[in-house]
Order: sequence, then structure tokens, then C-alpha cells
Amino acid sequence: MTKADVLLGLQWGDEGKGKIVDVLTSKYDIIARFQGGPNAGHTLEFDGIKHVLHTIPSGIFHEGVINLIGNGVVIDPVIFQDEITGIRKLAVNMSELLISKKAHLILPTHKLIDAASEKAKGKEKIGSTLKGIGPTYMDKTGRNGLRVGDISSVDFQEKYEKLKRKHIQILDFYDFEYELDALEANWFDSLETLRSFKHIESEHYIHNAIKQGKKILAEGAQGTLLDIDFGSYPFVTSSNTITAGACTGLGVAPNNIGEVFGIFKAYCTRVGSGPFPSELFDEVGERLGKIGNEFGATTGRPRRCGWIDIPALRYAININGVTQLMMMKADVLSGIKTIKACLHYEFNGKKIDYLPFEDNEKLTPIYKELEGWEMNIMELESLSDAPQALHKYIAWLEEVLEVPISIISVGPDRKQTLFR
Ligand code: GDP
Ligand code: IMO
Ligand code: MG
Repeated sequence: MTKADVLLGLQWGDEGKGKIVDVLTSKYDIIARFQGGPNAGHTLEFDGIKHVLHTIPSGIFHEGVINLIGNGVVIDPVIFQDEITGIRKLAVNMSELLISKKAHLILPTHKLIDAASEKAKGKEKIGSTLKGIGPTYMDKTGRNGLRVGDISSVDFQEKYEKLKRKHIQILDFYDFEYELDALEANWFDSLETLRSFKHIESEHYIHNAIKQGKKILAEGAQGTLLDIDFGSYPFVTSSNTITAGACTGLGVAPNNIGEVFGIFKAYCTRVGSGPFPSELFDEVGERLGKIGNEFGATTGRPRRCGWIDIPALRYAININGVTQLMMMKADVLSGIKTIKACLHYEFNGKKIDYLPFEDNEKLTPIYKELEGWEMNIMELESLSDAPQALHKYIAWLEEVLEVPISIISVGPDRKQTLFR
């Protein structure tokens, strides 16, 4: 028997999950995505190649490792096909890519409803990636969805038409013009690629793997503050991005979860709308965005940047049961004289250290200042050569977060990873 480890984001996504999953894959037999869909953009860099994955787990570039798309994931066959085409060009063997029959399908009309709904929200829009994620999960919980296993059934076309009719009625409700025919033709063509992979009952597969002592890493998408239950609702995604999501999204029992790796940036970013108490609107924020190359891997939108938020991180650590932390993009802070960290919030004249239910836009961050460092740390091969101020930053974070930091990332490449 083994336990499945989980790796997930502790902020608003884009923490660098793809990079670290790739770095850790050599220690695992199975890498499994458990929620989200092509709203995710997980970037990997090695041997001068930069690759962005949306649906496919980030262990795909390692020979002999099983990559599994779990039941909790939603799949757009068109995006999946594009991803497969891109990876095939790199001569990667994908015979070990498995897909749960229970994973739900994103239909072209789900994407249209996503767009129509965002348009109707006007200024209150979520800032969705418009990949059809929300409407697909709505059909899942509404018990109307189509799943990967359905594409092999004889009445698939009928099921599709039935759901499409429902979607057209929803679209009629909105003031939204659309052209469906071409999208639909493309979608049906792309099903061929999806069909060419093994569709399995992945919960049984995972149970057997655990029994046989296989090592499993569950790869999260988005981040804890985008979780449907615990994130900054309604400015969240539509799935459980937390450790519990790995249980429901793969069929792993809670007592079979092992290590929980929580990833965070040495600062903080967010893409899309919603509260972000420690957001910066000054030249430091601009600098973080520029040096950190903070543009969405899925949509290309600029990411909002700010200082690290300790209360929000503590909250994420508690909800996920994080056992090890990993700090990403430490290199981006190089050259900043004074680093700030949000330690509390001021809310209605009171000092608090949690995210309240009420209007998070009204939180004023209270900062602690820490000494920065000048040195370019991107070429460091060991932490022993790192500047004292970085050591102090790490030690202070471990003290306030009460969880050890096991990895410091100092650049986008696989090799720019320092273990402690
Ligand atoms: P994910 O969604 O959590 O996998 O993260 P993304 O791929 O969306 O965003 C992380 C971005 O930061 C990518 O462009 C990575 O290549 C890059 N990155 C990851 N780690 C580091 C790091 O330590 N330093 C720098 N400068 N970039 C990094
Ligand atoms: P990875 O896995 C960052 C954000 C969107 C929007 C909100 C809802 O790369 O970290 P959705 O498309 O789910 O309806 O969008 O969630 N969002 C992400 N932000 N990284 C992601 O994934 C995200 N996936 C969704 O910007 O604010
Ligand atoms: Mg991303």
C-alpha cells in the first residue's frame, strides 16, 4: 500500500505547479489531474523547450510514467486534440496517457453559454477564461452532462442533441449572437483524437495502483483561493481545487492521501476579477509583472501582481493540510530593496488575520517589511550560495506559516530548482 501525494496551488493559480510536477515526476509512477480543465495553463521548460499544458498532466514528458486525466476533470476535445498535436511534434510517447470514462465533456455550447453569461454580467464579470468550465460543471451537478464514456455509446448523437437543445434555450435567454455550425463540426472531428486514447474506470485503476505500492502524484489546477467553496466567491472557478478535490476527482480515500505539497509564489498574482488585498498599483507591481513575465498561460492576459499574503496562505495551508511548501519565482524579487509581506488586514477599523465573508475589497493590508537582496539568483546551484536576505525571508516564512519549505525555485527551467 502507498498513499497518493497531492501538489496544488495555495494562491490564485499560476504558482508554477506545472514546473514542479515535471521536476518531481521521476519519483512517481502515475501523475493524475483531478479537477479543472483547459482553464489551466501549466508551463514546463527544459532543454530550451517551453511547453504549456491545459488538460494533459505535467508528467507527460517523462518516458514510462502513466499520465491520467481523472473523473473530476472537464475535457474540451478540441483543445485536447491541439495539445496532443503539439506534444506529438516533440516525438513524445503518449501510449501511457489514460482518461477516465467519468470525466465530463465541454461542448461548444458550454463555451457559448460561458461567454454569454460573462457578457451579461458586465462590470461584475468573473474574468473567466471562457473555456466553458462553469457551464460544464453546472451540467455535471445538474445531472445533465455528457462524459467521456458516452462517446462510445450508440445513442451518443441523441444525447448530444438533447443537451444542445437545452443549451440553445439558455442562449436564447441572453442577448448574445453566435455561430454554432463550424464549432460543432470541429468538435465532432476532434472526438476522433479523444477516442484514440484508453478510456478507463480510473477509480479502480487508482485503487489497484495504491494496493500495488505504485507512487501517485495528484496535480492540482487553479489555486485554493479560486476554490468553489473556499475561494473568493463568486470570483472563483467551478471546481474544488483543494486536497479534498483530489479525493473526489480521482476516487482516492482521504486516509490514502500522503504528502500535500503547497506551492506559492514569493509574491502573489491573480488573473481575472475579484478581491486581492495585497495588490500593487505602483512601479513595484509593474516590475513584478515585467520581471516575472506575468501573463496568463491560457489567455495571455496580464496578471495582477502584489505582495505575499500570509493570512491567505495560512488559510490555504489549513484547508489543504499542507505538509511541505514550495516557494516559486524567488528570482523575481532580486533587486527589490525592501520586500513587504501582508501580515494582517484592517477591516472596518479592526485588525484581523483571516479573510472575512464580507466584502474582501475593503480589506487594507498591514505589512511587515523585510530586507531584499541584489544578487541575481537564477544561476545558483545550491542554496548555500544564496544571499543572507533570501535565507532570512525563507526562515521568516517558515516561522509564520509553520510548515517547512522544501523547494525554492529560481527560474522557469527544470534545472533552476533548489532543494533544501
Ligand atoms: P501553473 O499554472 O501553476 O503551472 O503556472 P503557470 O505556468 O501558469 O505560470 C508560472 C509561470 O512562471 C510560467 O511562465 C513558468 O515558466 C514560470 N516560472 C515557474 N517557476 C519560476 C521561477 O522560479 N522563476 C521564474 N522567473 N519563472 C518561473
Ligand atoms: P492554472 O491551473 C489562474 C481564473 C480565471 C477567472 C476564474 C474563473 O494555470 O493555475 P474559469 O475559466 O474557471 O471560469 O475562470 O478563475 N482561473 C485561473 N487563474 N490560473 C488558472 O489555472 C486559472 N483557471 C481559472 O482567470 O478569474
Ligand atoms: Mg497557469
